[in-house]
Amino acid sequence: MSEPNSKPASSAAAGVPGGVDLRAVNGKKVLVCICGGIAAYKTATVVSRLAQAGAEVTVAMTEAATKFVAPLTFQALSGRAVYTSTWEHIESQDPQHIALASRADIAVVAPCTMDCLARLATGRADDVVTLIVSAIDRSKTPVLLAPSMNAVMWDQPATQRNIETLRGDGFEFIGPGDGWQACRTVGAGRMSEAEEIVGRVMGMCAGRG
Ligand SMILES: Cc1cc2nc3c(=O)[nH]c(=O)nc-3n(C[C@H](O)[C@H](O)[C@H](O)COP(=O)(O)O)c2cc1C
Repeated sequence: MSEPNSKPASSAAAGVPGGVDLRAVNGKKVLVCICGGIAAYKTATVVSRLAQAGAEVTVAMTEAATKFVAPLTFQALSGRAVYTSTWEHIESQDPQHIALASRADIAVVAPCTMDCLARLATGRADDVVTLIVSAIDRSKTPVLLAPSMNAVMWDQPATQRNIETLRGDGFEFIGPGDGWQACRTVGAGRMSEAEEIVGRVMGMCAGRG
């Protein structure tokens, strides 16, 4: 249980590519949404690094995501409740998706599955992640998507159409990169590394003051 806050925010400046000052995220409310892909394990490092840098990290997970990494892991790393259901209101008597969406300074969906890209691109809001993201005003709060999938899934015309649509709708993207995939092939679709995602979040927070 010593992982999340083992380093004070002021001494956490090393270790992120690009020399971004980790203090940029200190005190920021970062919403981390996790979908059902193998790369969900990498998001544990994202949450841990952000928490170490002083961010208030809130995690939401699709049902599929909970099959890959237990919500308890993210609860321990963030030191906060993890949202896995649309219907179970944990902290608020108000609709929790509205409360979570409006208090976030920045949101990240990592990994963002092929299916989640499709749901977001078509304006669906029928699971806890897309429901919260649908309630975020992106003119004020940026939403960063980190796609992660097998190379064939990534190359599908439907995926590429959805990416195009989401870019046009104002979503931001990181990755995916090329490399080793869980299906034991090498190709495009591999989720960006945790440190790259953390670096981008820091940069986005720094840019917003
Ligand atoms: C072992 C396994 C690994 C999977 N990995 C991925 C993945 O990396 N990317 C992806 O888009 N879908 C992957 N899927 C499929 C998704 O889990 C599935 O489409 C699911 O419905 C996504 O739900 P979500 O978007 O609500 O999290 C995987 C499925 C299984 C069984």
